[in-house]
Amino acid sequence: MSNRILVTGGTGYIGSHTVVELMQQGYDVVIADNLSNSNIEVLDGIEAIVGRRPDFVNVDCLDYVNFGRLFTDYPNIAGVIHFAASKAVGESVEKPLLYYRNNVGSLVNLLELMNKNDVHNIVFSSSCTVYGQPDAAHLPVDEAAPIQPALSPYGNTKQINEDIIRDEAHATPDLHATILRYFNPIGAHPSAKIGELPNGVPNNLLPFVTQTAAGLRPMLRVFGNDYNTPDGSCIRDYIYVVDLAKAHVKAIDRMLKHKAQDQVEVFNLGTGRGLSVLEIVNEFIKVTGVEIPYEIVGRREGDIEQVWANPAKANQVLGWKADTPTADVLLSAWNWEKHLRKIDD
Ligand code: UD1
Repeated sequence: MSNRILVTGGTGYIGSHTVVELMQQGYDVVIADNLSNSNIEVLDGIEAIVGRRPDFVNVDCLDYVNFGRLFTDYPNIAGVIHFAASKAVGESVEKPLLYYRNNVGSLVNLLELMNKNDVHNIVFSSSCTVYGQPDAAHLPVDEAAPIQPALSPYGNTKQINEDIIRDEAHATPDLHATILRYFNPIGAHPSAKIGELPNGVPNNLLPFVTQTAAGLRPMLRVFGNDYNTPDGSCIRDYIYVVDLAKAHVKAIDRMLKHKAQDQVEVFNLGTGRGLSVLEIVNEFIKVTGVEIPYEIVGRREGDIEQVWANPAKANQVLGWKADTPTADVLLSAWNWEKHLRKIDD
């Protein structure tokens, strides 16, 4: 049996870390990416870490003909991990059609091509955004928590994608899918050879913190300190991107070894621990010794007050745990920022 995995979006943030873990576990990888939110040098970083270069095809998953050609050129794909998607919440509100086209169209093409080419295993990148703000009875959030109406077109595409996968699995008995709902991925590979490359002004907390630490941004804005949380700032489950990447390898292993119990399995991927914005900022200052000027400003529209995972299912069934200490994770993010900005110690 082939051990080649197609990774769409494999030069992106979570994708590149996953490619490293897959290759280190002996998988062959072919990446499909249109470099719309990543760059080709990521392949050098992967090669420097692993000692081998993944195959790379510059293709947009919306381009059915050329995406289809990849399946002809690589006839023995054992499974697919589908990361390729647009992911900026704010942008999705402004350009909903772009998000529906990219995120829904890509998955439809992919599933159709998998079917045509007898590829039966898919791991799909979903998000804890599908749970919205869970009520107190559902915190920490397990996989049985209710799905709530999406707060943005981006969030809606994740829900629609999950539904598409379930419908296609129902119609195609030999299709197996693993849906991974990520909480908040942060940090970078310990080698500092790959990491997050935010485009323009970062929306997410950690890239904004590291850019502020590097002097690129004068001040971090903490969005709200009047939430119903111990220190008033929002709480999230920040998960180390390398731990997250390893969960994908576990998910692929499980499907390829035919161990999945259900045709479609869902796992929450988080640490099980919630941290507030202010806790993250203070811990970052403590472990790096770098000051982060910050001000408290008003709430950000659409923000959820508090959410963190119950990862028990992933811990037990996948035999996986996100257990890298927060201090190490924050340091990895800082080391990556220093690498990007050529800052010496
Ligand atoms: C956001 C998306 C979520 C998506 C995830 C991907 C929203 C509402 N949700 O999650 O759908 O799956 O990114 O990574 O955008 N914060 C600040 N100052 C900043 C930036 C962030 O205080 O400059 C705070 C936010 O208010 C929030 C926390 O930091 O409380 C985390 O924010 P962020 O990193 O954007 O992640 P989410 O909002 O959880």
